[in-house]
Amino acid sequence: MAGVTDSSRGGFSNKIGFILAAAGSAVGLGNIWKFPFEVADGGGGAFVMMYLCFCFLLCFPVMMAEIAIGRKTNKNAVGAFSANGHKNWSWVGKMGVLSGALILSFYNVVAGWALGFAIEMFSGNFELGKNFGDFVGNWQLNLSFSTVFMFLTIYIVMKGVSGGIEKASKILMPSLLFLILSLMGYALTQDGAWSGVEFYLIPDFSEITFEVAFSAMGQAFFSLSLGMGALITYGSYVGKKDNIAQSTAMILLTDVGIAFIAGLMMFAFIYSQGLQGSGGGAGLIFTVLPSAFESLGPLLGRIIGGSFFVLLSFAALTSTVSLLEVPVAYVVDEFEIRRNRAVWLVGGVVFALGIPSMLGNGTVDFFTNFMTYSSGKTVSFMDFIENLASDTFLPLGGFFISIYTAWIWRGDNFKKEVEQGNPGFSKSFIGNYTIFALKYMAPIILGAITIVTIFNKFL
Ligand code: PHE
Repeated sequence: MAGVTDSSRGGFSNKIGFILAAAGSAVGLGNIWKFPFEVADGGGGAFVMMYLCFCFLLCFPVMMAEIAIGRKTNKNAVGAFSANGHKNWSWVGKMGVLSGALILSFYNVVAGWALGFAIEMFSGNFELGKNFGDFVGNWQLNLSFSTVFMFLTIYIVMKGVSGGIEKASKILMPSLLFLILSLMGYALTQDGAWSGVEFYLIPDFSEITFEVAFSAMGQAFFSLSLGMGALITYGSYVGKKDNIAQSTAMILLTDVGIAFIAGLMMFAFIYSQGLQGSGGGAGLIFTVLPSAFESLGPLLGRIIGGSFFVLLSFAALTSTVSLLEVPVAYVVDEFEIRRNRAVWLVGGVVFALGIPSMLGNGTVDFFTNFMTYSSGKTVSFMDFIENLASDTFLPLGGFFISIYTAWIWRGDNFKKEVEQGNPGFSKSFIGNYTIFALKYMAPIILGAITIVTIFNKFL
């Protein structure tokens, strides 16, 4: 369906359009904001190693499955599962719609922080990093920035997924990559940086627990936009001549590559500033980076710091667009509401859902100390939603997508779909591995880690 003009669902202009959009969905706050603090919480190298294994060994097949389901059925996440007479599978898509809404609710708040930081860095307010707590505790400010961000997302989703944003991402995504690479190079020249690199790259195997595996798995799904049907929806716009395996590999390598270098940059900065072990959590990049920018000098620091957060906001925008697209495509296709109306409706509901996350960073005690897990850890509303939606629902979605593809749709039909645009896939090593992974590995591993952790952590 390359070159679609179906304006009710939006479309991509060509194959590169799809890869750009899917990579745009994947690359976002997950790589640059979330990945580093998950690594810090998860004990460093051991987390990174598990994360990489999940991405390449499990998420690769699941991503192919999502794209193939989308291309085959030409439907949104919910419709795709009930197509071909499998009506009772549509709840997997519905769980995806719910995950998308929940993730977007807090993602939009963090994206608002990035936007706020862009303005503050340009104005030379490098102290903001030290006052991060005051910044996130100021609900009026947060409300303003996240309102702006939600409007931007709504505007772009209303216009459809192709067009301006596709063109902009051709310039802005490589710029972001270039900036992070340069910052990484600079970070590595700082005193003490290499201890950070060691922490990041050398695994301490005693850190490997079910709980760390659970967060590495959740991070892999979150970062790759997997498990909620975002790529089913985007896959429905992929042409029959396109090579799904190759596109998947490109999206995966881009996403993992950017997370990996962002992590290197962050740990070099953290250790050179002596901030290791300070448990930055969701505030990690926002506290560490401003002083790194300050060290570049007043003028350069402003320009680089401001540009960094502008590019991060743009990367977040290409992700929020895909997060909103899933529930919107569902509402448009299934309830036959006009697209524009659906975008406002869903955008509004999700925005409201995000208000407790906004208030849970010190403003309102109830949302700040929202819940205590059986492990004794007390988390905010935002952390809770994140644990629920991205760490639990996405891998669970991946679990069902694998079972659906391998056992319900059936491996042979999946292979036949991928063969179009990739002749010889069925007999190739990748083809055989993908089927094996979808049939056995993904269901067993994803199922086991999720169940064990739900019992240990939440119940
Ligand atoms: N992958 C995006 C990021 O890393 C977040 C996302 C998750 C987008 C799920 C869509 C679906 O920032």
